[in-house]
Parts: sequence; structure tokens; C-alpha cells
Amino acid sequence: MEEFFRIKRLPPYVFAVVNELKYQARARGEDIIDFGMGNPDLPTPQHIVDKLCEAAQQGRNHRYSLSRGIFGLRRAICGYYKRRFDVDLDPDTESIVTIGSKEGLSSLALAMTTPGMTVLTPNPTYPIHVYSFVLAGADIRHVPLSRDGDFFEELRRAVVNSWPRPKVLVVNFPSNPTAMVVDLDFYEKVVACAREYNLMVLSDIAYAEICFDGYRAPSILQVPGAKEVAVEFYSLSKTYSMPGWRVGFSVGNQHLIRALARIKSYLDYGMFQPIQIAATVALNGPQECVAEARQIYQSRRDILLDGLARSGWQIEAPKASMFVWAKIPDDFRHLGSLEFTKLLLKEAKVAVSPGVGFGEYGDDSVRIALIENEHRTRQAIRSMRRFLSAGADVRP
Ligand SMILES: Cc1ncc(COP(=O)(O)O)c(C=O)c1O
Repeated sequence: MEEFFRIKRLPPYVFAVVNELKYQARARGEDIIDFGMGNPDLPTPQHIVDKLCEAAQQGRNHRYSLSRGIFGLRRAICGYYKRRFDVDLDPDTESIVTIGSKEGLSSLALAMTTPGMTVLTPNPTYPIHVYSFVLAGADIRHVPLSRDGDFFEELRRAVVNSWPRPKVLVVNFPSNPTAMVVDLDFYEKVVACAREYNLMVLSDIAYAEICFDGYRAPSILQVPGAKEVAVEFYSLSKTYSMPGWRVGFSVGNQHLIRALARIKSYLDYGMFQPIQIAATVALNGPQECVAEARQIYQSRRDILLDGLARSGWQIEAPKASMFVWAKIPDDFRHLGSLEFTKLLLKEAKVAVSPGVGFGEYGDDSVRIALIENEHRTRQAIRSMRRFLSAGADVRP
């Protein structure tokens, strides 16, 4: 039978290759240290779990909930934006709860897209930024994103060379996978470009609270007038180590929030209400747990980078996110990121994500997620050091 239209639009999944090799190695009884997926290993803070259990005991919470999220949670979301970014939002018209930010991005892409519409996405980037729009029927124009590149020049080139003219720009800082961060003046320029080029901006700040060394990630909505051109997606998955709970939200431009609410009202009944109640407690309650998580990721980052630097692999320390974006060492760069990842898995028993899985401009790097504890991280450093010192002698 012929493959369906949308399924055919999805290319082979690069990470599946690594996952399969990982699975086979584990089946052989090998101990693989897994820095592959950005899946937080820390438990959700106890007071949030307790609230979930308490709310789950109440029969009234077992019914269908509201697709756009209960008012208390939307009010908590707006409270967070006021406290953290000094941004005023109306819970009814400028905020919506989503089933993880991934679902929010996908549903909004579906709501916004006319077939053949051009969408600008960074490259490399988190795959949903691209594939939510691919699945909705849009055409993607990639905007190369690197520490040494000029993003705004790339953006200008992408706009003037695209026809039909692009309608949407996705930005994501702190970035997954590169861990690149920006300051508010970056968003000021993004908003100015959005006006000049007639773009709507989708900003994803999933890692806004996982910041190190005194850095604090800004929100695009801090730019005066940003609400006219932008919405922002946020996730509780990383901040409160709640990836399996599926809680995210979107805030900002009323027209986009309304469109998202409308399409979601046809697609879902909202999250299980006890989860929404516990998520409200996460946002309104004590925030020491966030500082603790930040400290744990930072300490893992330092251990990993110190250890790898001692084996000659110098990597720039990320100021945020739970990722280290590491240029492949010179001796191995010619292999490309997928072959290097396979070799690292085979020889060092360490799994990372090949940069090419996030886009062609990521192929000179691998992404190392800080999701193994300090003991396992040190163990990985020892085996990576042995592997790297064998250098060019190791062949795929
Ligand atoms: C940049 C970015 N956005 C969104 C998500 C998805 O988050 P959620 O769990 O809220 O769907 C992730 C998860 O890894 C991410 O890295």
C-alpha cells in the first residue's frame, strides 16, 4: 500500500539509528552511559507529586477538563511572567495551557498553516520546530544558526530569497541543541525584523530557567509591542523535572492564542485535571527546587567539560540548557556526526546525539545531554578519554 502523504513528508529518523545500536548493545549486556535524549533524570519535586495525589483523590477532578486549561493554571502562568519578566498578560486572551509545549507547537502549526506557506526555522534546531510545520503542509526554509554566524544576515537572505515570502519565524533560546543564549537586544531585533518582513514569531523558551553562571534568559515578550507579532512557548518539563507529565503553555499574541484555543477545542479535552492543579502548585509554590536542579546540571556540566578538556577535547561551557554542544575533535571531524556517534558508542560505550539529527548545519558537532549523575559522568569521561587517546587509530 502506498505510504500516506504526511508520513512520506517525514525523513528517516537519524536518532533511530543510534537508538537501535544502543538497544542492541544493551541486549548484549553492555553498560551504555546515555547522554542521548534531553530527558531529565531528576524526580519531580515532592510537593508537586503530593498535590497530584491529593487532587487525584477527588472525584470531581476525574471529568473532562478544559482544553485551554483551568483558570487557576492560566493565572499562575501569567503570575510567573509578571514575576520573572515583568510582562503583563491576560489569562483569558493571552495564555493557553498545552499538553507539553510540543503539542502546543504542533497544534499552532496546524492552525496557522496554509499548504505551501514558507516557514523559517533555525538549523540546527529541535526537530518539532521543523516537523510540526512540515506535517501541517508548510515548506521550510532553514536559517543557519551558529555562534560565529550572523543570524540576522542569514534571516535577511532567507526572506529575500524565499517565494512565497515567509510568514513565520521560529526562534529557540537557550537553544536545543546548541545551548546558544541571547540577550534582550537580540529579541528587539527579532521583533523589528518581524515587523519589517511581516512575520509572526514563535519563540520557544523551554530552558529559560536552566541558566548558569549568573545568566538569566529573557523572554521575547519583554520587548515593547512584541505581543503584536509573537507568541512564546514554555514547558514545565525541564524547570520542574516533569517531562512525563506533559505540561506546557503558550502566551502572547491574542490572534494566535485564539487560533490555538479553537483548534485544540476540536482536538482535545485538556490535561487530566489533577496534573493541571499540581502544575499550578509548581508555578506558584516554593522555587528552591528549581535552584537545586540548576545547580545539579551546572555541576555535571563542569565535571564533564573539565574531564574532556584533560583529554584534549576543549568544549565551550554552555551558559544555559541541559546540553553541551561539542564540536567533534579534529581527528574525527571528517567522519561526520553520525559515524562519530556510532564509533563513540562502539568504542567508549557512551551514547550522544549526532548533530546532523538537528539539521545539516549541526553535522560538525554532537549534543551531550547532562542527564547522567556525577558518578556515571565521571565513568563516561574515563572511557571517552581512552577512546580519544587512541585517536585516529580507531576506525569505524
Ligand atoms: C527546545 C525544546 N522545546 C520543547 C521541548 C518539548 O517540551 P515538552 O516536554 O513541554 O513538550 C523540548 C524537549 O526536549 C525542547 O528541547
